[in-house]
Amino acid sequence: TGTFDPDLLDAVASAQHVVALTGAGMSAESGVPTFRDAQTGLWEQYSAEDLATEDAWLADRNLVWSWYQWRARLVRACEPNAGHRALGEWQTRLRDSGGRLEVVTQNVDDLHERGGAEVLSHLHGSLFEFRCDECSEPAEHDPGVAADGRAGSDEDLTETLASPPPACASCRIGRLRPGIVWFGEMLPVDAFDRAQDALAECDLAVVIGTSGIVQPAAALPYVALGNGAPVIEINPAETPFTDHATWHLDGTAATTLPQLISTDGAAPHRR
Ligand code: APR
Repeated sequence: TGTFDPDLLDAVASAQHVVALTGAGMSAESGVPTFRDAQTGLWEQYSAEDLATEDAWLADRNLVWSWYQWRARLVRACEPNAGHRALGEWQTRLRDSGGRLEVVTQNVDDLHERGGAEVLSHLHGSLFEFRCDECSEPAEHDPGVAADGRAGSDEDLTETLASPPPACASCRIGRLRPGIVWFGEMLPVDAFDRAQDALAECDLAVVIGTSGIVQPAAALPYVALGNGAPVIEINPAETPFTDHATWHLDGTAATTLPQLISTDGAAPHRR
């Protein structure tokens, strides 16, 4: 087997402030479909561009609510993969040696946390946070689990399609909406600022499983480059960022991350 570029291994071994910037590809090997990969398009007849918008919500709250309930149940039925766990281990190792690893994710699942990593920023919100669409009062809600324990099946889908969003117990006017950043909506200012500051100060960034298309998240890897930090991109495909990455590892999250943080570092490196 090939090995990683020695300079890459040096950067990994010596980094004291790492930022991991992750996208849907991070959770693909856990069984959570990505958004733009043709063969695993999320719930084929709908795309995030169709449903993750305020217009879609106003046009058909039941459909949008059900889509997010279905996604939350799907995530509940999935397990963190070896990539999530590797980031958790790396974060712990750095914390124990006085360093730090900060996770900045576009993902709305909780697999980083369940894989043992604290998350600095959920740039696009979370499937498990809800608020009133009128008074914005945060509200607890349990999306439940798939009827047969196997989330994501079509029958589970039709069952969830029937469920309307609960009424807001606070203002009694609005309905609960997902705590997700929809297209056209502002990212939580503090979440984005924390992410930007982290990438402006890190000494290594690792960009994992994102197509690098959706702004402003797609601009963040360039902040790391701008501060002089090397950036490793882990993605089985090329992206608009690939030519700017210090290293591009064309592997997957669950295979490449454990190799990257293992002390021997012996692993295929194709570039
Ligand atoms: N390991 C690593 N990367 C992978 C894997 C894997 N196992 N499988 C797929 N990928 C890569 C794909 O090559 C692609 O580049 O992950 C990327 C997934 O891209 P998208 O589906 O576009 O997901 P993402 O970049 O996170 O989308 C950004 O768009 O729909 C909105 O708000 C939503 O947060 C999302 C944002």
